[in-house]
Amino acid sequence: MRAALPALLLPRAAREPLGEAAALLPGFATAEADALPALLQALWREAPLRHMVTPGGARMSVAMSNCGEAGWVSDRRGYRYERCDPHSGRPWPPMPAQLRELARRAASAAGFEAFEPDACLINCYTPGTRLSLHQDRDESDLHSPVVSLSCGLPATFLFGGLRRSDPLRRTPLFHGDVVVWGGPQRLAFHGVAPLLEGEHPLTGRRRINLTFRRAF
Ligand code: SIN
Ligand code: FE2
Repeated sequence: MRAALPALLLPRAAREPLGEAAALLPGFATAEADALPALLQALWREAPLRHMVTPGGARMSVAMSNCGEAGWVSDRRGYRYERCDPHSGRPWPPMPAQLRELARRAASAAGFEAFEPDACLINCYTPGTRLSLHQDRDESDLHSPVVSLSCGLPATFLFGGLRRSDPLRRTPLFHGDVVVWGGPQRLAFHGVAPLLEGEHPLTGRRRINLTFRRAF
């Protein structure tokens, strides 16, 4: 009978391990996620969402921006971090203090002390948008974890191992959920399944994901 219940009605633990050095923290950042859309409106006026191009020339379906000292960019020359937004030539907007603090607290709750993120990637998904399986490996500091915050529509997070062919765990991510991975799982392959159609009271037909990393 349990399996017939919608996932939303099942109780979720405070911390669900996704391996020895990765965890889902369900609802860890509901307050921050609630406040995020208003915060991002201001930020996107400085550094608008855009669809970057992969080195192979494909347009990424996820719309992106950044805040923090380091911003992730992709173009024909490759993937890398830049101090300035290539659109404006100006530094990326600063990382809001409450988000930096949240990333630090989440990392600590997952066992990674003294996390000092300098990059916050902002990914915006609309129904049908997916993020194919990849490793986050453009950061020069791979000792620091990755902290991910979900806002808006739910998504299915795919989390695998160090080889692309390793089995994938499918984890639903809801508004306010945080995922942390690091240590021996820092280079785990991961992705996001195509977003399902839906409407969220705060974000409409969108899911917004922030990932915090130490890039420089
Ligand atoms: C990412 O892999 O960088 C983003 C993951 C997500 O959107 O949950
Ligand atoms: Fe990633």
